[in-house]
Amino acid sequence: MIKKVISDYPSDFYRGKKVFVRVDFNVPINNELRTIREDYRIRRAIPTIDFLIDAGAKVILGSHLGRPKGNVNKDLSLEIVSKRLSELIDKKVFFCDDFSTEGWIKKVNKLNEGSIVLLENLRFYNEETDNDEKFCKLLSSFADIYVNEAFGTSHRAHASTYGMALNFKHKLAGFLVNKELKFISEMLTKADKPFVVIIGGSKIKDKISAMAKLLDKADKIIIAGGAAYTFIKAIGGQIGNSIYEPEMLDWAKDVYFKNSDKILLPVDHLVSEGIEKTNSCLVVDEQIPDGYQAFDIGPKTIDLFNSVIKGPGCIFWNGPMGVFEVEKYFSGTLHIARALALATWRGANSVVGGGETIAALRKAEVLESEISHMSTGGGALLEYIGGSNLPGIEILD
Ligand code: 3PG
Repeated sequence: MIKKVISDYPSDFYRGKKVFVRVDFNVPINNELRTIREDYRIRRAIPTIDFLIDAGAKVILGSHLGRPKGNVNKDLSLEIVSKRLSELIDKKVFFCDDFSTEGWIKKVNKLNEGSIVLLENLRFYNEETDNDEKFCKLLSSFADIYVNEAFGTSHRAHASTYGMALNFKHKLAGFLVNKELKFISEMLTKADKPFVVIIGGSKIKDKISAMAKLLDKADKIIIAGGAAYTFIKAIGGQIGNSIYEPEMLDWAKDVYFKNSDKILLPVDHLVSEGIEKTNSCLVVDEQIPDGYQAFDIGPKTIDLFNSVIKGPGCIFWNGPMGVFEVEKYFSGTLHIARALALATWRGANSVVGGGETIAALRKAEVLESEISHMSTGGGALLEYIGGSNLPGIEILD
C-alpha cells in the first residue's frame, strides 16, 4: 500500500501552513507518581514533528489517551504527555485544555511558524469515537494539511483518524506510519527464510486472522502464553486450571492438525496453585495436574523455542510467554527476548509488536537498536497483518 509521505513535498510546501498531526500518544501512565511508564510512542513521532517544525509549519497534535468514553477524566489528560514531549524535543509545547472554546480556537489559529500545540484528549468527546461530522469540521478547521502518524489507532474510523481527513486536500503519512507499513508489508510479502512467528499473550481470539495469514507464510510458528493452553487442550493434553478459550477449541484443533509440522507448543511448564501463591511453583512435563495453573514455559520449552529463534531469516513476535510481570514467571519471556536480540545480531529481520511485548523487551533490557522494528501498533498491527483495511491508512493520499 503506497501512501504519500510528508517528505514527498519540499519543505517550502509546509512553510506557514497549519498541519494537523494525528499521533498515538496512548501511553501507559503511573497515576500515583504521575509519570509516563513508557514513552516509546511519543519518541517515535518526533522525526515527523521535527521535520514539520524545521519546514516552518505550525503543528497541531491530536491524540487519545485511554478510553474515557466522552467524560473528562483528569487521570487521562494529555497534559503530562505535552510536558514529556516538550522535554524530549527541548521546545515549548502549548497544551490546549479545551479546543472547543472560542478562546482556544483563536489561539490555535494564531500560532507562529514552528510552534506546536497538543490538544486535550480527543476522547473526552463522544463525538470523536462517533466520527461526528460537526466534530470533524471543528478539528479540520484548525489546519490546512492532515498527517496520520498514529499507526496504532489506524484501525479506528474515528473523527481524528478518518472523518476529519476527508475534509483535506492533502492527507499524508508521517514517517512512523510509513516505516510501519514498509516493515510489515515486507514481512508479509517477502519475509526472509526461515520465517519464524512467535505468538504469546493470554488470548488468541483477537489474533485469529493474523495467525491464519502468518500460518500460510511461516516456516515455524511458536505458540505460548495463555494461547498455548487452548491448543494443548484441543489436542487432548491436560492443562489443569490453566486459562484457555473454550469457544476456540475446535478452531485450534483444526489449525494444529493441518499445521502440526510447523507449530511448536510448550513441552514443560512452570505451574502453581495460583498466581498469588508465593512458594508453590514447580516445573511439570506435558500434563498439568488439576488444581495447578501454568504461568510460564519451562526450561525444555525454552531450549526448544531457542532452537528455531536463531537467525538469519525473519522473526515476528507478539505476546509474552507467561505472566512476565511476576519475577518468577519472567524467565520464559526473558529468554525469548534475548534469543530474538541475538538472532537479530546474527542478521535476522525481527519485527515485534504489541504493548505487552514491548514492555517485556524493556524488562529484559533488550534495546530498541537490538530489534529491526518495534511496532507501535497493538490491535492495528494484528488487523493489518490479518488483511483488514485500516481506515486511517486507506484515507491517505
Ligand atoms: C492502542 O493502544 O492499541 C491504540 O492506541 C488504540 O487504542 P484503542 O484500542 O483504545 O482504540
